[in-house]
Amino acid sequence: MKRTLEPELMDDLDQALAYEGADFETENRGFVDRFREHFPEFTEGHILDLGCGPGDIPVRFARALPACRITAVDASGPMMKLAGEAVKQAGLADRIILCCERFQDISLAEPVDAVVSNSLLHHVPNPLQFWYRLRQLVKRASPVLVMDLLRPDSQEAAQAIVQHYAAQEPEILRRDFFCSLLASFTEDEVAAQLAEMNLSRLVIDVVDDRHWVVSGIIH
Ligand SMILES: C[S@@+](CC[C@H](N)C(=O)[O-])C[C@H]1O[C@@H](n2cnc3c(N)ncnc32)[C@H](O)[C@@H]1O
Repeated sequence: MKRTLEPELMDDLDQALAYEGADFETENRGFVDRFREHFPEFTEGHILDLGCGPGDIPVRFARALPACRITAVDASGPMMKLAGEAVKQAGLADRIILCCERFQDISLAEPVDAVVSNSLLHHVPNPLQFWYRLRQLVKRASPVLVMDLLRPDSQEAAQAIVQHYAAQEPEILRRDFFCSLLASFTEDEVAAQLAEMNLSRLVIDVVDDRHWVVSGIIH
């Protein structure tokens, strides 16, 4: 099945609220745990989270790594508003900076010590832009962890995944999940992107029936 693009930003308030209310506990906790397993020596420094959505992942990173500060980027106004509330409620406003901008346009005072990103790449029309920018924004010899959806073979297979994992979620979230699966990349496509961007030291791993993870130290 060919890739079908979906809108880049999740800037509809109902959409953002449905995403915030959905149960991503397993995915988000697993994402942070995976970072700590892959990079156990990384305990302090500046982490950049690209496409942070409603802020659950930066809050989890800030709690798990108390000596780190995090810059969390998302260009959706409604998502940033929710992220601001989550950060404030967690009492972490001193360590999490929110930046409402497209990752293509952000400028940082200096490169960061690690980059993480969950479920952003499938929103991006040109994925090479993402890998190019990622490399620009991080210091050399720094950890990178990127996770996203894996495109199924057919619309029927995508529908089956939505039914299996999101049967209880509101219709708007089920619709977005379906469209995201259709907009996501295959393992071979991501491997080709990494090769094209000279990032072959990053390794892709398919971790379950609907996710791939790219990780490694960037050089
Ligand atoms: C599926 S959500 C993932 C949110 C979060 N990472 C999580 O896992 O909970 C993807 C987010 O990426 C944001 N996004 C898409 N394209 C973007 C871009 N070019 N720059 C910044 N954020 C972007 C969307 O607005 C949306 O909030």
